[in-house]
Amino acid sequence: MDTQVFEQYESEVRSYCRHFPTVFTKAKGANFYDEDGRKYIDFFCGAGAVNYGHNNPEIKQKLIEYLESDGVMHALDMYTVPKREFIEIFEEKVLKPRGLNYKIQFPGPTGTNANEAALKLARKVKGRRNVFALMGAFHGMTLGSLALTTDKASRRGAGVPLENVTFIPAPYMFPELDTVRYMQRLISDDHSGVEKPAALFIETIQAEGGIRVFDEQWLRDVRAFCDKNDILLVVDDVQVGCCRSGTFFSFERAGIVPDMVTMSKSIGGYGLPLAITLFKPELDVWSPGEHNGTFRGNQLAFVAAKGGIEYMLSHQVEEQVKEKGEWIRSFIESEILPLDPRLEMRGLGMIWGIEFENIPVKGFADRVIERCFAGGLIIEGAGRKNSVVKLMPPLVISREDLMEGLAVIRDSVKAELAAL
Ligand SMILES: Cc1ncc(COP(=O)(O)O)c(C=O)c1O
Repeated sequence: MDTQVFEQYESEVRSYCRHFPTVFTKAKGANFYDEDGRKYIDFFCGAGAVNYGHNNPEIKQKLIEYLESDGVMHALDMYTVPKREFIEIFEEKVLKPRGLNYKIQFPGPTGTNANEAALKLARKVKGRRNVFALMGAFHGMTLGSLALTTDKASRRGAGVPLENVTFIPAPYMFPELDTVRYMQRLISDDHSGVEKPAALFIETIQAEGGIRVFDEQWLRDVRAFCDKNDILLVVDDVQVGCCRSGTFFSFERAGIVPDMVTMSKSIGGYGLPLAITLFKPELDVWSPGEHNGTFRGNQLAFVAAKGGIEYMLSHQVEEQVKEKGEWIRSFIESEILPLDPRLEMRGLGMIWGIEFENIPVKGFADRVIERCFAGGLIIEGAGRKNSVVKLMPPLVISREDLMEGLAVIRDSVKAELAAL
């Protein structure tokens, strides 16, 4: 396996490739193939970017047809047919059936771009600088989003102070603390030293934070808190949107309507770069061009995004997630947790985490991940000290691949425990 050119010329900043030191050639469905012809099962799913599977054949066909027709490939934010068709299907088949009324902004194509737009707009609408975010949050790597992100290693890279954010303990950190009352006190107490925020940014499931699923009642209480205090509620659905949690938007289970929603990753349908920032129409106070950019709304990604929604609907992906999520949950519960009483599990839909923080060995989860890779499974870590193994297969994975991948995890955990 020749990885020399990467090691010699590519920056030290490269990361995932260090966990998966091979050269990939092909990907199909829930499988990757490398230069040696070795097949892998993918439980990483491009960090949530290929929910509908690698090279999904139905979406691929639409892309091929578009390419062969010499459709426009780049148009800044000019009006094009793919953009019109994406907006139409998103409006008719995603927003309206859920009773949601949002304007759509196309920022740059990544998750952090969607959050930067939401951050700027929230501050502009409310005329306040401060923003609340939760400890354990991950919102992206550019300076605004990074200021909302808590992990030390990422923040260290900023090189400048990351300001104007107040971090609130996430509800799982101090179960005895009522975090909503705490936030209320922060803004009501004239001796709290905390400025009232323009917005509260949350993930309904902290993914990078270690697969922390927030309680539905807590989400509703947060919504009520924001309403009462004239604070915008922004849900970052970049990673757990697009059916990952069992419904298209992850907040649907709580019956809440955020003021803004950010999405990227699988909204691009085929692993293509696309992001959207959704907000209630009355929040649309942008002036033309005030948040500009050359790559806002990739045309091929619009084609794939429409294809992704069509696929999601015609293959009942939300239903598939509920069924397969249950297979994952019951496998972890019956085959992995019994291996050691110190193991824990958390998750919802098709995002699950196995927590190893109580195994007193540094990097235990990393060792499991390494062993999984040797066993033909691509899987990543998350959480404090990367102590969680995160299971996030493509939503369309077959039962056979899913069970095979789960068995690799079980056997890897067993082997690492035996090596203690
Ligand atoms: C919840 C959440 N928000 C934002 C981002 C940033 O997305 P991107 O890496 O596309 O900038 C991520 C990336 O993992 C994420 O998980």
